[in-house]
Amino acid sequence: MSYSVRPARRSDAALLPDIERSAGEPFRDIPDLAWIADDEVGEPEFHESLAAGGTVWVAVDRQDRPIGFLSAEIVGDALHIWELAVAHEAQNQGLGRRLMEVAEAEARRRGLASETLTTFSDVAWNAPFYQRLGFEMLSPGADVRLDELNRLEAERGLPRRCAMRKRL
Ligand SMILES: CC(C)(COP(=O)(O)OP(=O)(O)OC[C@H]1O[C@@H](n2cnc3c(N)ncnc32)[C@H](O)[C@@H]1OP(=O)(O)O)[C@@H](O)C(=O)NCCC(=O)NCCS
Repeated sequence: MSYSVRPARRSDAALLPDIERSAGEPFRDIPDLAWIADDEVGEPEFHESLAAGGTVWVAVDRQDRPIGFLSAEIVGDALHIWELAVAHEAQNQGLGRRLMEVAEAEARRRGLASETLTTFSDVAWNAPFYQRLGFEMLSPGADVRLDELNRLEAERGLPRRCAMRKRL
């Protein structure tokens, strides 16, 4: 199957929650994270407002149907990646990496200093993947904003979260 990546339109937003739900399936194989597969997902309105700012991209199939997305926001001088998700049936074909590359190109074009995100430190398709893309894991205390996100995640019961940054 061939896919391409394009900026999301506001009308794509309604399709993104189902993609995020499907994307979570691999977590079922990790005993203490299996519940993530049934956890709540981002609201369409959230993605829609970010799409209006030009920081959401979708991977689409030949029929222009979204099958993956990256939803981000400019926070200060950083592009903060809120969600990266590829539907289960389309995973492991390079779409996640393509979406990350497109977001980085846009962050560079806008002259931003870095990309940031929070993720699971020990899940194969999370921190280790971002490290291969050039992200560094930050120690607690290195970034107040990201510390606060990790704190809120811990409150929600998410274990082993970490903050990551790629300087551009
Ligand atoms: C993370 C995610 C978006 C990656 O999408 P994808 O289209 O499968 O990504 P790619 O095919 O480009 O693969 C990305 C990397 O992850 C690795 N990977 C993907 N799925 C994997 C799996 N199940 N087990 C181990 N590694 C995996 C690939 O080997 C690849 O590594 P490389 O590019 O450095 O060689 C997708 O797995 C997903 O939606 N996961 C659930 C949601 C999630 O965890 N989002 C990230 C939140 S921070």
